[in-house]
Amino acid sequence: MFLGALLLLSLGVLVTSDDTIYAPGTGALASGWENWSWSSTFDFASTAGPGGVESILVNTTSYGALSAFAETAFDNNYAGLRFDISGAQPDVSLYLSSSTNTIVSPSLPLTSMSALVNTSAFTTITVDFSNLPGNEGVLANNSWDRVNFQGGLNGAVYFITNIVLLDEIVVTPLILSAEPMGGNILAVTSQGAVDFSQLSATVNGAKVSLTQSATYSPPDTPAQTITYFTLSKPFSAGSLVIAANGTSFNYTIPAAQSVTINTLKTTSISPYIYGVNFPPDADYIKLLGITMNRWGGNAVTAYNPNGTFTNAGNDWYFENRNASPQADPFLQFISEAGSKSLFTIPALDWVAKDATSYSYPRTVYPDQQAYDPYNSDAGNGLLPNGSWVTPPPQSNVYSPWTTAQAAAMLEAMPIKPDIVTVDNEIEIASSTHQDMHPDPMGYDEELARVIATATMAKKTLPNVQVAAPSTCAWWFYWTSEIGYTDNAAHGNQDFLPWFLSQMNSASAKAKKRLLDFLDIHYYFAADTSANDAAAKALRLRMTRSWWDPTYIDESYIGTSIPPQWTEPNPNAVMLIPRMHSLISQHYPGTKLSVSEWSSTDDTDITGGLVTADSLGIFGVYGLDQATYWSEPDQLGPVGLAFWLYRGNGTFFGDKSVQVTMANSSADVFDVLGVYASTSESKKVSMVIINKDVVPVNLGILNLPAGKYFLRHFGGEAGVAKWQTTINITAHSDFVVPSYTAVFIQQQ
Ligand SMILES: *[C@@H]1O[C@H](CO)[C@@H](O)[C@H](O)[C@H]1NC(C)=O
Ligand SMILES: *[C@@H]1O[C@H](CO)[C@@H](O)[C@H](O)[C@H]1NC(C)=O
Ligand SMILES: *[C@@H]1O[C@H](CO)[C@@H](O)[C@H](O)[C@H]1NC(C)=O
Ligand SMILES: *[C@@H]1O[C@H](CO)[C@@H](O)[C@H](O)[C@H]1NC(C)=O
Ligand SMILES: *[C@@H]1O[C@H](CO)[C@@H](O)[C@H](O)[C@H]1NC(C)=O
Ligand SMILES: *[C@@H]1O[C@H](CO)[C@@H](O)[C@H](O)[C@H]1NC(C)=O
Ligand SMILES: *[C@@H]1O[C@H](CO)[C@@H](O)[C@H](O)[C@H]1NC(C)=O
Ligand SMILES: *[C@@H]1O[C@H](CO)[C@@H](O)[C@H](O)[C@H]1NC(C)=O
Ligand SMILES: *[C@@H]1O[C@H](CO)[C@@H](O)[C@H](O)[C@H]1NC(C)=O
Ligand SMILES: *[C@@H]1O[C@H](CO)[C@@H](O)[C@H](O)[C@H]1NC(C)=O
Ligand SMILES: *[C@@H]1O[C@H](CO)[C@@H](O)[C@H](O)[C@H]1NC(C)=O
Repeated sequence: MFLGALLLLSLGVLVTSDDTIYAPGTGALASGWENWSWSSTFDFASTAGPGGVESILVNTTSYGALSAFAETAFDNNYAGLRFDISGAQPDVSLYLSSSTNTIVSPSLPLTSMSALVNTSAFTTITVDFSNLPGNEGVLANNSWDRVNFQGGLNGAVYFITNIVLLDEIVVTPLILSAEPMGGNILAVTSQGAVDFSQLSATVNGAKVSLTQSATYSPPDTPAQTITYFTLSKPFSAGSLVIAANGTSFNYTIPAAQSVTINTLKTTSISPYIYGVNFPPDADYIKLLGITMNRWGGNAVTAYNPNGTFTNAGNDWYFENRNASPQADPFLQFISEAGSKSLFTIPALDWVAKDATSYSYPRTVYPDQQAYDPYNSDAGNGLLPNGSWVTPPPQSNVYSPWTTAQAAAMLEAMPIKPDIVTVDNEIEIASSTHQDMHPDPMGYDEELARVIATATMAKKTLPNVQVAAPSTCAWWFYWTSEIGYTDNAAHGNQDFLPWFLSQMNSASAKAKKRLLDFLDIHYYFAADTSANDAAAKALRLRMTRSWWDPTYIDESYIGTSIPPQWTEPNPNAVMLIPRMHSLISQHYPGTKLSVSEWSSTDDTDITGGLVTADSLGIFGVYGLDQATYWSEPDQLGPVGLAFWLYRGNGTFFGDKSVQVTMANSSADVFDVLGVYASTSESKKVSMVIINKDVVPVNLGILNLPAGKYFLRHFGGEAGVAKWQTTINITAHSDFVVPSYTAVFIQQQ
């Protein structure tokens, strides 16, 4: 044992050169490396890639991987990994793992390394282990011995070659970006030992002097540094040129648009709009300042607290499994973090009976459309023509579940939830849980289940609040799975208004409020999947669907209006005001909750800007509670949006301050979000989101002069998170670079 350990240690120290994992010409992994790949087909000597260069042709099915195992662990002996890859932007992520423990590195999507990867040429990618892509920081110390390239849900096809662990990565000193920020600040990001003595700035042709004020190296991007400089003259409309050592950055600063803040006009911001689904741990909650935490989604419908089993439903071949996280430890760490919880109570008639059964075995249903790549006996319950097979008896994989059992579960919980929901999206149970509830759910059944669970929950936990019906999407806000005949059978009322009225009467009868929150899920309906410039602009402007009655939704909602629906202004979503109006008509006093929503792209900077813009809107429009779907990466763009408002103990205020734009065109909100707040301390905070591809310049009237804390993310430096202190003088122009979100707080 001892000798072995010593031998490994000394081998580690002896490493002095690169270690090739795969090179052209051999048709195999290099010696010392074993092929531990899975769920894929390969050609290890393909010459079908660009230029006929020999490479591995990888064709993975769902979550399959090219995996290379090193016979001698390479630990942390290398500076990085380089490879050449070609494909149609394949959905593949790199991670390192160990055959001797369960530690894995962050999973690094190819998109966080390069946007260039294409079929006509190989792109060389170098991953620096001391500055992992996607702001993942430094590679942890571990006995690394596996390099894995794993495909996503729909697999990936690509060519890969020249895979090498690098002994050394030489960082060239480089100024990466130099952007105008605030009234007179230059935010310069750089790598390596840059000499700033040559840095100069010219405003409208006149040279201005620069004073270095602060330097900051964020832990998530340790190899990048930001240095702030103060210009001797404030920015003004016209040209700004920054030059250093042969590089130059050239901006046109637009004329300032006037924005007025009125600290005498305020409304409250609910603290519970800064929520997420499934935070991983207490540290995450504390670092991002998360205030509400939901345990929900399709996989909790079948949660059995005895044994903590669940069933994945239609998300994964209707298979039972061990629930992760389990309810009690989840509620425990949320409580330890001082945060609040929203807990989903199963409300269909069954829960998983074990961790291993599944509903559609191939042995029983031999002719199904698809089978689990990891369990070839478990099918997806569909016939090849897309129709459902007739499900087996529920008792094959489920145990019966009643409200009495739900009450016993709540009673047994050591930490009680603050809010409960009645299951999750049960209006579509006949597809998400087809095996458990094959019949389409109608208005009456859904109402009965909500009333039964709400009554039970309020009796069992007198202080708990109830949120329902957690409807999945716009279509089902107004119509059940049964269809328009169900609307007709209920006085031609759309579902949600009918539901609110019914909950109002049921509460009157019960002599207590049975519904505290109208809870819905909201996913922007426009298609932004192309992720090109037009799709990004669409993603950034569709936040107007949260509030704007003049914004015609750029999806089916904007064009099709089923005659059965009775909603006013039906081509505009204007979600928050619309729901407030329904509440005031049908069940006044009910709060509004959005327990699932998403930016549509958690890895693109525009997704982070959409999140920051949405959080600002929630404050202004008086949303009571929101939880993002799902667990945004703490270091990614969406995590940064939460961090912007709430990170590391610095909080946006709890009173929303009125902001008025001089520009009366509603289109201004396509490209700009401006939010102001104050709090007990009377200090003003603002969040400004520039969704445009050019800098924006604001003349902010009534912003008190003085010292401000500044933090920001986005911009040309990529997903960064920087912070410093700046001076703001009265009536000065305030510049925000393109694709950047800025937070300022009066000190
Ligand atoms: C590598 O492993 C995969 C999966 O086991 C297998 O399909 C493939 O043939 C192997 N290729 C080589 C060259 O060993
Ligand atoms: C990848 O494999 C699938 C079947 O698993 C096949 O249909 C497809 O043609 C393959 N693609 C390539 C490029 O080999
Ligand atoms: C394809 O990849 C090569 C190598 O990275 C790059 O030079 C080229 O610009 C890319 N082509 C496109 C159209 O993105
Ligand atoms: C890994 O271990 C080395 C030596 O103990 C230490 O200097 C380094 O900070 C560690 N790295 C990480 C990421 O923990
Ligand atoms: C200046 O630029 C040259 C050439 O681009 C580069 O090699 C050098 O590292 C730069 N030096 C500094 C200090 O930025
Ligand atoms: C900056 O851009 C302007 C407008 O495109 C151009 O006239 C000017 O020459 C540029 N200056 C530099 C230093 O690149
Ligand atoms: C869990 O166990 C308790 C005690 O044995 C039992 O009363 C209850 O019905 C069980 N619940 C389920 C869902 O099986
Ligand atoms: C699919 O096939 C099944 C069995 O042959 C049949 O009963 C069903 O009607 C078909 N569905 C469609 C949509 O054609
Ligand atoms: C959090 O704030 C403290 C105190 O201001 C600071 O020292 C620390 O570096 C910050 N941490 C992060 C991750 O920003
Ligand atoms: C108002 O905003 C729109 C959209 O950004 C812009 O096109 C227009 O130029 C602005 N008008 C003024 C007077 O700033
Ligand atoms: C802000 O103003 C103070 C006092 O006027 C000065 O000492 C400080 O350097 C200024 N900070 C910046 C970043 O310009």
